[in-house]
Amino acid sequence: MRKFILSAIAVLAFSDAATAQSFPSRPVTIIVPFSAGGPSDAMARILAERMKVTLGEQVLVENVTGAGGSVGVGRAVRSPPDGHTISFGHLGTHVANGAIYKLGYDLVTDLEPVALLPSNPMIIVSKKSIPATSLKEFMAWLKAQPTPATAGTAGAGSGSHIAGLYFENVTGIKLQYVPYRGTGPAMNDLVAGQIDMIVDQTSNSIGQVRAGNIRAYAITGDKRVESASDIPTVDEAGLPGFHMTLWSGLWVPKETPKDVIAKLNAATVEALNDPAVRKQLENLGLQMPPKDKLTPEALGAWQKAEIAKWWPMIKAANVKVD
Ligand code: MLT
Repeated sequence: MRKFILSAIAVLAFSDAATAQSFPSRPVTIIVPFSAGGPSDAMARILAERMKVTLGEQVLVENVTGAGGSVGVGRAVRSPPDGHTISFGHLGTHVANGAIYKLGYDLVTDLEPVALLPSNPMIIVSKKSIPATSLKEFMAWLKAQPTPATAGTAGAGSGSHIAGLYFENVTGIKLQYVPYRGTGPAMNDLVAGQIDMIVDQTSNSIGQVRAGNIRAYAITGDKRVESASDIPTVDEAGLPGFHMTLWSGLWVPKETPKDVIAKLNAATVEALNDPAVRKQLENLGLQMPPKDKLTPEALGAWQKAEIAKWWPMIKAANVKVD
């Protein structure tokens, strides 16, 4: 019997190694759970372009949207655990959604972490027509409105929604959320003046701010973003301590062989170390993850810590999802 068990383990180990040897055997798909044109989509496409060089196979980006990103994550969770389908996500999809939706999957036990990706602070932006030239003036305008101002989000549980809840929490200002399938389309409506504001990922707003199409009031970090150094931090602008960084990451379904995860991690790290990729991402205001936080285990530990940090506030907000 012992011999049988040992040979079974050997066969299993061999088949895992064989899988990893031949991985990838076909194009790899990164599922981005938000619509094209938003910050998640932009980051995923920049990374995919470079990861395909290391992996030697096409790396495609598929946008699977809905329910604050939880539909796309569910699609990835239920895909074959062979490394050819990757779940792109962040604080919203892989932390907040677990406190808001009955997901039908567990964000920790049904996924394996691959690598932490760049992060960016949020930025408080409004439509151009609002007559405020500072965060204090903007907050005064918000408080003076007869009905709550409209805030674009990528759906309940998205990063832009969590940032909005946090903004309400610290200012006492009520907002009326307008959900989109991503903050790409939300930004289109902000530029068109259809909604009042977004607490957005800096990477998503920075182009429109530079073009003068929307107003920027503050960055939710303790230091200014190098590529947008004229925008003050919340500490400088009168909302001290309203700090939030939206980090992103990659995961694969549970039971994906460790050697396959290692290959995906290596391709991700190589992309993040590529000077041209770094320049593209940093120009969007994104900050690279620390080098000692790039292992799958580091992402796993970080996700668990963020769940412990954010779930109490999110659950207290009693977000209703239809
Ligand atoms: C969000 O959480 O707000 C999303 O990242 C927006 C997006 O990527 O479209």
